[in-house]
Amino acid sequence: MSIPTPHINAKAGDFAETVLMPGDPKRSKMIAENFLENAVLVNDVRGVQGYTGTYKGKRVSVMASGMGQPAIGIYSYELFKFYDVKNIIRIGSCGSINPELHLKDIVIAQGACTNGFYASQYRLPGTFCPIASYELLEKSVEAARKSGANFRVGNILSSDTFYDDAQSGLDWAKMGVLGIEMESAALYCNAARLGKNALCICTVSDSLNYPDEVMTAEERQNSLTQMIEIALEIA
Ligand code: HPA
Repeated sequence: MSIPTPHINAKAGDFAETVLMPGDPKRSKMIAENFLENAVLVNDVRGVQGYTGTYKGKRVSVMASGMGQPAIGIYSYELFKFYDVKNIIRIGSCGSINPELHLKDIVIAQGACTNGFYASQYRLPGTFCPIASYELLEKSVEAARKSGANFRVGNILSSDTFYDDAQSGLDWAKMGVLGIEMESAALYCNAARLGKNALCICTVSDSLNYPDEVMTAEERQNSLTQMIEIALEIA
């Protein structure tokens, strides 16, 4: 296979070596318009908007992943494998599992547990442990400290279910898992398989412990400045 890929109609060289990856295509547009200079639309297949521009003089791209491990699995694979992208930094939202985490706090995902089977494709005789790039992780911690954000570094859960019949998200608290989202484990698997770098930074948008704590879709889209700036500083 070569470019354009089935899901990305950009040309060779259209993407920078670092891509910020929100879930929501609207957030991708918002970041390009408000944080990047000279941003150009490089992908719009299925409305999954991708832009390349500059931040503090450095070339950076931003493209949405859509929701769930199958979706981020496709986009991150195609960017790493066919567009020579080296770093993907997911900037998403998560539900907090750890009771000390509240709305707008930031979780940096050192590792990603999952209830899904994305890694079964590698046919390993055990359980693969999807982890962040140490280099990106270290830089993100430095940037997060400087920003003054309330952040924690640790495990998150990439769940294949948002509406979970067993409501099993909080079961992971006993293992110290901080938050729940739906994409990072597949992203970390692709990075490992293709020798690339990935990191996920999430803003807490709701809480499994405190159901009254919720952000509206609009708040979620707009109140993520601190996380976006941390990701752009690493890029
Ligand atoms: N569950 C799964 N994914 C999420 C959540 C959640 O509560 N919040 C944000 N992404």
